[in-house]
Amino acid sequence: MNTNRLSMTLAAALNEQMTKEAHASQIYLSYASWADLQGFEGIANFLFRHAEEERNHMMKILKYILDRGAEVKVTAIPAPHPNPLSINNCFEKIFEHEVENTKAVYSLVKMSFEEDDWSTWNFMQWFVKEQIEEEALAMSLLDKIKIAGGEKVSNEALYTLDRDLKDAPDSVESPQEATAEKP
Ligand code: FEO
Repeated sequence: MNTNRLSMTLAAALNEQMTKEAHASQIYLSYASWADLQGFEGIANFLFRHAEEERNHMMKILKYILDRGAEVKVTAIPAPHPNPLSINNCFEKIFEHEVENTKAVYSLVKMSFEEDDWSTWNFMQWFVKEQIEEEALAMSLLDKIKIAGGEKVSNEALYTLDRDLKDAPDSVESPQEATAEKP
């Protein structure tokens, strides 16, 4: 009896997304290591924590594939992107990466819609919401560095940014939680 509840196409796409999340974790790990070596322990700490979050995203997809009776294919993870050239460049690269990931998530939503696979469509909604937060978080990093001077950021501003990011929350609140009293 066939208990597989995922089409071959969707199972392949979900496996691919699982690897993308693992890749994202490697990217954050490598940027964090780069930042630490430059002396930015706070920024590194923030990025190391985010690497864990990406690994959690990977696990969610892995578990979903298994729960739907399909095969998980653990493959090689592509090498992370080259190291950033500056903190400003690091935050830009993070934002670009998150936008790319959002596109991959949308593609899975579209595929599940076209296949009438409402379980996968529903499962992917968590990632749609998560990507709003991930992009907002990346934008907030870019805003911070922009206010501090972008590529021309002073060492003093970088010192403050590094100190602040060490204890910064790992996520931003989703817009669905906003109220008039607490925007
Ligand atoms: Fe798993 Fe940063 O998205």
